[in-house]
Amino acid sequence: MKKFTTVNDIKNLQEIIKKALRIKENPLSESSKGKGKTIGLVFLNSSLRTRLSSQIAAQNLGLNVLTLNAAQEAWNLEFADGAVMNGDTVEHIKDAIEVLNQYCDIIAVRCFAGMKSKEEDVNESILSQFEQHAKVPVISLESATRHPLQSLADCITITENCHEERKPKVVLTWAPHIKPIAHAVGNSFAEWMQEMDVDFVITNPEGYDLDKNFTKDVKVIHNQDEALKDADFIYVKNWSSFDDYAAMPEVKENWMLTNEKLENTNQAKVMHCLPVRRNVELSDEVMDGENSIIYQQAKNRIFSAQAVFSEILDELNSK
Ligand code: CP
Repeated sequence: MKKFTTVNDIKNLQEIIKKALRIKENPLSESSKGKGKTIGLVFLNSSLRTRLSSQIAAQNLGLNVLTLNAAQEAWNLEFADGAVMNGDTVEHIKDAIEVLNQYCDIIAVRCFAGMKSKEEDVNESILSQFEQHAKVPVISLESATRHPLQSLADCITITENCHEERKPKVVLTWAPHIKPIAHAVGNSFAEWMQEMDVDFVITNPEGYDLDKNFTKDVKVIHNQDEALKDADFIYVKNWSSFDDYAAMPEVKENWMLTNEKLENTNQAKVMHCLPVRRNVELSDEVMDGENSIIYQQAKNRIFSAQAVFSEILDELNSK
């Protein structure tokens, strides 16, 4: 694997899921693969799971880990090409990436959507600069439009919890939130579910349809009860409007996932990428109930990251 920013960077999804599950059985099985190499984990935005699971994964592979919480610890970055930097910004992103090239064998970056310009976000204005200027493999730790390491962890978790011969029904349901949230997790989950052997549907209120470039021909149902019927897995996530970018059109019905809503499902397992707003997106009873596989999903972030880092190291070590 030369880089990892989308599902398209994976040759065979089932193979990498199997690899991650083997790593989960024996996390130190490749503990010298990364010896003498350094991964830079660059966070332009906050994180708990991605930061820590990536660090554990890298250490399990024997990599040196440099973590830069850039928003808090680094110089104020300039992203605009040709900017006259006579204001608050101190270092251009191009220069920062060139310096990271000197220190790192792999650069992993988190760069959320700005949620101000649809065009900038859709075009991945920050990730694209890393892809353009990095001379080492780039890994996305969540970008403006995708969260691929999360989606791989989601695929691993669904695989672990599939105990029937038939295809599981997987429902991605919109949930309420108090502020406009980006589309990366929803987009990415939609993209990856289309590569899995599942019956996948999306449910969200009118006005909240995700970008068709990600959902393609997936069925979108605007009635949550109808969509949840007979579900085996429910993935709860908020996102703001894509069409009316970052707006939050009024929603009259209550879309928070509750135990009552689980009643017409096939004892659905409940998933969420975290962090979650309890009693806004889903109720305490769901979060703490026996249907929740949310902490298992969070644990699988380690093995998702480790499987990807391992594949990247294979490429580096073959040179
Ligand atoms: N799910 C996830 O990416 O969590 P963090 O934002 O805490 O990394």
